[in-house]
Amino acid sequence: MPIGSNKLLNSIINTWPNSHINIPQSAKKMEALIPSWAVVTLICVATLAFVSKTFFQKSQNSLYLPPGPKPWPIIGNLNLIGPLPHQSLHKLSQIYGPIMQLKFGSFPVVIASSAEMAKQFLKTHDHVFASRPQMAAGKYTTYNYSNITWAPYGPYWRQGRKIYLSELFSSKRLESYEYIRVEERLAFLKRLYLLSGKPILLKDQLSRVTLSIISRIVLGKKYFSESSKSEKSIVTLEEFQEMLDELFLLNGVLNIGDWIPWLKFLDLQGYEKRMKALKKKFDRFHDYVFDEHKARNLERGENSNIKDLKTKDMVDLLLQLADDPDLEVKLTYNSVKGFTQDLVAGGTDTSATTVEWAMSELLKQPNLIKKANEELDRVIGRERWVEEKDIPRLPFIEAIMKETMRIHPVAVMLAPHLALDHCNVGGYDIRKGTRVFVNTWSIGRDPSVWDSPEEFRPERFLGKAIDVKGQNFELLPFGSGRRMCPGYSLGLKMIQSSLANMLHGFKWKLPDDMKEEDLSMDEVYGLATIRKFPLVAVTEPRLPDHLYHM
Ligand code: HEM
Repeated sequence: MPIGSNKLLNSIINTWPNSHINIPQSAKKMEALIPSWAVVTLICVATLAFVSKTFFQKSQNSLYLPPGPKPWPIIGNLNLIGPLPHQSLHKLSQIYGPIMQLKFGSFPVVIASSAEMAKQFLKTHDHVFASRPQMAAGKYTTYNYSNITWAPYGPYWRQGRKIYLSELFSSKRLESYEYIRVEERLAFLKRLYLLSGKPILLKDQLSRVTLSIISRIVLGKKYFSESSKSEKSIVTLEEFQEMLDELFLLNGVLNIGDWIPWLKFLDLQGYEKRMKALKKKFDRFHDYVFDEHKARNLERGENSNIKDLKTKDMVDLLLQLADDPDLEVKLTYNSVKGFTQDLVAGGTDTSATTVEWAMSELLKQPNLIKKANEELDRVIGRERWVEEKDIPRLPFIEAIMKETMRIHPVAVMLAPHLALDHCNVGGYDIRKGTRVFVNTWSIGRDPSVWDSPEEFRPERFLGKAIDVKGQNFELLPFGSGRRMCPGYSLGLKMIQSSLANMLHGFKWKLPDDMKEEDLSMDEVYGLATIRKFPLVAVTEPRLPDHLYHM
């Protein structure tokens, strides 16, 4: 019923409780002084306030919202969220249950913390929750939502996904890039060999190999210099890595302006300023890369040959698609920048972080490394490196990966989803515009699903048909449904073959003075949740010497 309905208004005016009130003499005198129009206006305003309050409460009460803590004015429940939001929400879910509603600033937020609730949002009602909220990170760091990660659900996003899945991540195309993964992996193993006996910061080495692979696949070559800044490259490896770290950080932060929009202009944490500065750096990088691609293609005289895709990198392909008049939604220059950034950023830190968590857990339990070595010696032998095609015959290595992704999912709460419509989930009303997070960190610790969930025990996956590809809702490192990670198969290939070869080729230990129990597992929250203290480890070769001189 509309707020201004005459019927409702009349009934309230008629039943206004004034007939039983004893009006004192002084008030009667006052009444005589106040002009009658002012009294009427006052009554009307009070009535309207009463009506709208009653009606608003009624419409809220008639909704059956998920349980949750009472919000404060302005901040909502932000006071309950600590520096590790997934852990704060995990604790709250133990009070309020697997589906709960909070308010972050001005916005309702629903958190799913069980496999069943994840399934409701990502499968049963996937079409309702397949959009993204518009946040500052999407606006400033991804060319006004021109990439796929932040694009709202609709024709632009749908076409982008189609390009990703059918062109960039098809199994044929991924196979055609296998030689790049092999070359870069061998270079990585050789670097580990050269550093053997010395403490190494593992994340630096892992980021370098994943960034090298992704750069060559997406950009055609490594556009960064690996030593000091050389004349030819536009950035050094270190600078590029810093840009990506900043991008990940800014895409994962809790930016006050996103949640309390009327405070946005103040940019209280300075994040928007940093986003704009970062955009300029990426712009410069993209312009350089695209100009070089266009010049090279012009030279080759093949800039318009859209069918000849085999020898092209992903930027070539995207630039050609941007010229394609038949596309349902036109791809702009900014789209190509957004997509390119999506691919480079999406693939690098996620994979490196996962392998770093895996090695950290293994170094805490050297008996697991021994078990992995037994499997590798039996299946591969000591005369060669592990290849991608060997992975299905290495169930213990696969189990280590799954166990790592259960206990340390990189995107602890996936990316935010947005309700496009009103929807009933698990018997509760979820209002249009609600922002939804699926807490995979919490699901991975659900004692009703996992035995001793706090223990790292890869064996739990042996002989089980649980995989990470979005069908088993108790294990969702890549999400599920329409918004599921499109790069998961590339990610898995990089992670599994790096880890398998690291274990096959080297003995691993902590630096001299460090005990297993001293190795901290503290986290820092972000779009990728990373280790608070980067892992330092020492390697020693375990294969015949000639294998390291390739
Ligand atoms: C260990 C490796 C990886 C992990 C754990 C991972 C995880 C995820 C997760 C959790 C999401 C969000 C799902 C959701 O919103 O429900 C996502 C989305 C995405 N990922 Fe990945 N990812 C990985 C590797 C990659 C790679 C290699 C690429 C590309 C080269 C990539 C590109 C993307 C893109 C473009 C999206 C956005 C999809 C959309 O919004 O429609 N990811 N990823």
